[in-house]
Amino acid sequence: MIQKSLKRINSKIISNKTLKKTITIHFCSKFSEIEEKLTTANYSFLKQLNFDFNYGNYVILPDINGKISSVIFGMKKTRKVSKFLIGSQLSKLPKNNYLIKNYPKNENTFELILGFYLSFYSFKEYHKRSKSLKKPTLNLPNYKKKNKILYFAESEYVVRDLINLPANILNPNYFEEYVKKFSNFHNTKLKIVCGKSLKKDFPLIHEVGKASSNKPRLFELTYKRSNSSLNLTLIGKGVCFDTGGLNLKSGFGMINMKKDMSGAASVLGLAHYLIRLNLNLNLRILIPCVENSLSEKSFRPGDILISRSSKGIEIKNTDAEGRLILADALTYSTEKKSDILVTFASLTGAARVAMGPDITPFFSTCDDFADLLKKSGDKVFDPVWRLPFYKDYNKELSSEFTDLNNAPLSGMAGAITAALFLKKFTKSHNMFLHFDIFGWNTKSKPGKTYGGLMQGVRSLGTAIEEKFFN
Ligand code: BES
Ligand code: ZN
Repeated sequence: MIQKSLKRINSKIISNKTLKKTITIHFCSKFSEIEEKLTTANYSFLKQLNFDFNYGNYVILPDINGKISSVIFGMKKTRKVSKFLIGSQLSKLPKNNYLIKNYPKNENTFELILGFYLSFYSFKEYHKRSKSLKKPTLNLPNYKKKNKILYFAESEYVVRDLINLPANILNPNYFEEYVKKFSNFHNTKLKIVCGKSLKKDFPLIHEVGKASSNKPRLFELTYKRSNSSLNLTLIGKGVCFDTGGLNLKSGFGMINMKKDMSGAASVLGLAHYLIRLNLNLNLRILIPCVENSLSEKSFRPGDILISRSSKGIEIKNTDAEGRLILADALTYSTEKKSDILVTFASLTGAARVAMGPDITPFFSTCDDFADLLKKSGDKVFDPVWRLPFYKDYNKELSSEFTDLNNAPLSGMAGAITAALFLKKFTKSHNMFLHFDIFGWNTKSKPGKTYGGLMQGVRSLGTAIEEKFFN
């Protein structure tokens, strides 16, 4: 569970103390920059190799006893370079202590360290044999932000592990056990609503999840600090598997739907980060947790469901289930005061079509905070882009039979109409943010393995720190 994710990160692989025995890494772009720093033999060896100094290429040089004496890292950018490339290359070095004293000023140390931590991530739980690699350690004397990066790396491991777990393991029962352990770990209060109380108080969560034998439920975690300067409510979509329900998805559309709880994973990841930073805030986390399954109990197209807020919803498509479970959680959340109300959800395929897998679209009722989020996202290598709560599209949400429909048939602006649907349950909260995440990396890249991916968390975590705790 959570410890399993955290234990795979060795915080000691980065050190900011001055260590005695270290191997120096030289970052350079041409021979003249390095000549003075190497022995004649090493320099002539490098020349013989005709080393090209291309960004991320490296050579390990020996001393006369055959031990590693230094590493030369190329920094010449001939074309667009991948994010996290240097950290990823450093992670491949043989086990030893390496000293990074003069990292080029125009390079980003945050990116290097985060990339280094994330490059060790793998999800090998279900491989018959998996051997753990002997890791190199990096010594960056006087680097100040080590903890922030470590906590982000921890969150990323937690989030990726949760998303990567298949739905035959991570179902609502397992998720409940996970959340209990998470709550113990962070000393938060936990309330679980299920059964008759769920049916009565959270009718939409019950309706969406009732077809499965793994019963639907709502998790509420509360973390309280005295003298808190911020009340933050995070809500995450916890659909452990999305078949689409009676509006069954195609095989292709369903293949990755174990990731439909990536919103829930993200809010736990963000909570982990904020609590580890020891910020003085009050945090509430709500996770409606269901399986959108098929059985004779499935809710149907044409059903009219009455939400916790009393608004009626006509079901046009049972595959638009995320907004239903979030709607009841949102209504509940607004019954108590909070400064920022946030939803994270893999809500629409339209968001992925608009932004692709790398950029996370978000919606914000507050312009200033949206600007800050964008800037923070760029700073911490977690790109986000604002989409509008465009009011005129509200008409798409009307129904001939009741107050709202859950899936406008026009199919236009799907991410926006989904966000507008959620907004209807926020009582026009003064600061409402919604992240429509993809939660998945489609191709292995430096620092990013194929599979579950944390999105929007670093940008929001950083924006919150900057606005409220600076
Ligand atoms: N989980 C999906 C959204 C999704 C699909 C996210 C693919 C990322 C990748 C969600 O529950 C869904 O199926 N939404 C429908 C809504 C539609 C029926 C209005 C969609 O986007 O197709
Ligand atoms: Zn769906």
